[in-house]
Amino acid sequence: MSDETDLVLVVDFGAQYAQLIARRVREARVYSEIVSRTMPAAEMLARRPKAIILSGGPASVHVDGAPGIDPAIYDSGVPILGICYGAQLLARDLGGEVARTGAGEYGRTRVHAEGSSLLLSELPAEQVTWMSHGDSITRAPEGCTVTARTDVVPVAAFEDRDRGCYGVQFHPEVAHTEHGMAVIRRFLLDAAGCRPTWTNVSIIEHAVAEIRAQVGSERVICGLSGGVDSAVAAALVHKAIGDQLTCVFVDTGLLRKGEADQVEATFRDQFAIDLVHVKAGDRFLDALDDVVDPERKRKIIGELFIRVFEEAARDLDDARFLVQGTLYPDIVESGGADNANIKSHHNVGGLPDDMNFELVEPLRHLFKDEVRAVGEELGLPGEIVWRQPFPGPGLAVRIVGTVTRERVEILQQADAIVTEEIRRAGLEREIWQSFAVLPAVRTVGVMGDDRTYAYPVVLRAVTSDDAMTADWARLPYDLLERLASRIVNEVAGVNRVAYDITSKPPGTIEWE
Ligand code: XMP
Repeated sequence: MSDETDLVLVVDFGAQYAQLIARRVREARVYSEIVSRTMPAAEMLARRPKAIILSGGPASVHVDGAPGIDPAIYDSGVPILGICYGAQLLARDLGGEVARTGAGEYGRTRVHAEGSSLLLSELPAEQVTWMSHGDSITRAPEGCTVTARTDVVPVAAFEDRDRGCYGVQFHPEVAHTEHGMAVIRRFLLDAAGCRPTWTNVSIIEHAVAEIRAQVGSERVICGLSGGVDSAVAAALVHKAIGDQLTCVFVDTGLLRKGEADQVEATFRDQFAIDLVHVKAGDRFLDALDDVVDPERKRKIIGELFIRVFEEAARDLDDARFLVQGTLYPDIVESGGADNANIKSHHNVGGLPDDMNFELVEPLRHLFKDEVRAVGEELGLPGEIVWRQPFPGPGLAVRIVGTVTRERVEILQQADAIVTEEIRRAGLEREIWQSFAVLPAVRTVGVMGDDRTYAYPVVLRAVTSDDAMTADWARLPYDLLERLASRIVNEVAGVNRVAYDITSKPPGTIEWE
């Protein structure tokens, strides 16, 4: 990072909150990175952080082997904010007291400010916060002032401005804490003196400089999928190196209606990027002939995708670099996640080793919301920037049973109506994913005077933060009615519409 960018390290104590904290810091326009609690202090300090935040975590400081931090951090002079477990650790390590009082607080909790506080100044004396703790800080460390309490715990926040140490028992990073962002801003800007310079423009400048330094005058290939990540990655790389970039778009024939045209219009026409559009729909459909098993579909599509991409890339044999739209959470999560492989996910990353590309990952420092903001700044169309996640195997995993041309077309038409109506209702950004599914059954209906025997379409719309869990979206009845009526009237071969009201778990978002 350049000299104008201040760095905040978020030390991860094993809860899901570290990423959220890092995002909130970025929202305050300060660059943040998540680091492991086992990182030695010398290594952290070598990064010259302007502030350090200790995250919450599920442990108790009282158990054997409770996660800690290299204590040399405390003498470094770098301002520290401890949150929840982080605050308890800070309190204990600096000589305060943390006890198992048996009186924990979970969920919405009123906090009362006391005395003068840098973090809580100019905020209401009483505010609703979000808590999740069993242990409690019963005595603040020597030299620290208690700046808030609750009805249950005597120390809900403490600070020692001279020493630059701050602790809050509540979670300022969660939306349920009324003034959480203000607390985070006060710590970053007032207590630690960070400069709010991490803007979309500076993100683009950093990325462009990094890309240029990495690839020099070499040629670069980028696989475009139609999704936001590869689109923003391509636009960034193009900004950095112009016509040294060639984009390869493998059209599997399993994309949403109009998606291929949009990729052409955006990248070839608007950005004047050298674009290889491989129309491979027939090859994919032939390969899927009579295949019913979802995991086999995924495997066939994944392997064929790589083969087709490889063939296109061989024609560009002077390229040494390959762009990947890897995001910061992917990097953080691949650090230690042991998540079960419930469905094998496919992306361009599975290219064989002998292709010998060096990877360019211009989004590897960015969260999804930053990727979208950068995309808008670069002038990508809203339809791409705000496009919902779409599975790599495309519509094949939304067509239960065999994938035929006729069934792909039915689903594309139904899906286009869903997209259009959801957009028209202004729900596009609120809903995580909304789409149509084509089951492998037919049902009886009546249209005009005739009995019909045709496919039902299932609507699926979910809200989610990260696709790990999801809830079905409470779509307005009139919207559901419009969707059902338009799909049955406009899509030949469909005579019924159902709405899937299963959450995840136990369901998954996709049907296959
Ligand atoms: P599920 O259906 O497992 O989906 O709840 C979670 C998220 O992952 C997407 N998804 C995939 N993405 N290749 C992908 O690139 C896949 O094979 C795949 N399967 C599911 C799904 O759309 C949702 O966002």
